[in-house]
Amino acid sequence: MTLQVDTLLINIGQLLPMKANGPKKGKEMGSLEVIEHAALGIKDEKVVFYGTMEEASHIKSKEQIDCQNKLVTPGLVDPHTHLVFGGSREHEMALKQQGVPYLDILKNGGGILSTVEATRNTSLEDLIDKAKPHLNRILSYGVTTMEAKSGYGLDPETELKQLEAIRALNQDHVLDIVSTFLGAHAIPASQKDDPDGFLDEMARMFEEIKEKNLAEYVDIFTETGVFTVEQSRRFLQRAKDYGFGLKIHADEIDPLGGAELAAELDAISADHLVGTSDEGIKRMAQAGTIAVLLPGTTFYLGKETYARAIEMIQQDNAVALATDFNPGSCPTENIQLIMSLAALRLKMTPEEIWHAVTVNAAHAIGRGDQAGQLTVGRKADVVIWDAANYLYIPYHYGVNHVHAVLKNGKVVYKRGNGVERLSFS
Ligand code: NIG
Ligand code: FE
Repeated sequence: MTLQVDTLLINIGQLLPMKANGPKKGKEMGSLEVIEHAALGIKDEKVVFYGTMEEASHIKSKEQIDCQNKLVTPGLVDPHTHLVFGGSREHEMALKQQGVPYLDILKNGGGILSTVEATRNTSLEDLIDKAKPHLNRILSYGVTTMEAKSGYGLDPETELKQLEAIRALNQDHVLDIVSTFLGAHAIPASQKDDPDGFLDEMARMFEEIKEKNLAEYVDIFTETGVFTVEQSRRFLQRAKDYGFGLKIHADEIDPLGGAELAAELDAISADHLVGTSDEGIKRMAQAGTIAVLLPGTTFYLGKETYARAIEMIQQDNAVALATDFNPGSCPTENIQLIMSLAALRLKMTPEEIWHAVTVNAAHAIGRGDQAGQLTVGRKADVVIWDAANYLYIPYHYGVNHVHAVLKNGKVVYKRGNGVERLSFS
């Protein structure tokens, strides 16, 4: 019987379908199905066939894309970004070079608080316009689904403005964006002596955010000089009672026990985890909380010690990777660079890394049933790489290896001979 499709990708050198029934944990992260000399059929924006070229011989297609023996994978998923913000922080580079710690810059009103000032002074329209080139660049690196947080308002008006910007960007741009409310990102200078009062103010926003469907997740920065574990527990429990999924910026700089808290509250993910304890690693695995690691941030903060990815995997955790794109601790949209850092610094294998930026990253933002796989019935979000095999992407670092990106079965981004052609808004 012949199968009629809209588009058939042919002569794929290596295809990674990333078939999975849930997040890949522990050892499962190390085994990857690779189909050589493959084809992929797309109909009505969805994958309807994947297999070898031989198995595709019965398929008729309106359009064919000859992949010329290139690598083809699902569109990547970036599960942790701070996409929407005013201003930029290049002036902090000199402070960094002088060795001023990240938390000291924050304590003195810089860092996150300087971006808060800039974000308060930027209109909704300008925030949207400013985020678009970042989004275009994120897509150009092969990402088709991502998360974006608020957290540079720290007052109801500006937090809502950021969430509305995220919503508008999700509607206008071809990339799928999952929204997180991070009102508890820092203590604003005006409420420095009353962190509990500030958290109450942010928690009073839950109702409106839920009603307007402006965020699916609530996140908090659990860190020395920001919010304690106890404050985080109370705040996140309230969010949970409103029906939000939970995320935590956990153990990024000091090991406070954010990972244990994430497990206790059944958070979907705990993110950063640089200083996480043995107990935290064990409890996350038991609870099924996904460990989202952000090695780009550790690198950019100039730290020697990275998250213990290998121990997390040995202890049967599901590990995901993200850029943490933000104007302070990790100003890059380049998820491929993060894949290289994961190889070089976290010592993850290429097979683990591919799971961490597809299936597991999708599960970390509640999109495990839609994104991160190229199996039958899935959205046809596809990356064709200028590489012959999957090992090549983490290996050749710092540059963009994307040849083309398809979103919902349509080519939305293409590079050739170093020239970009954009066909998305
Ligand atoms: O994930 N740690 C807190 N939040 C961000 C940094 C935000 C900023 O510096 O602007 C992070 O690293
Ligand atoms: Fe972050």
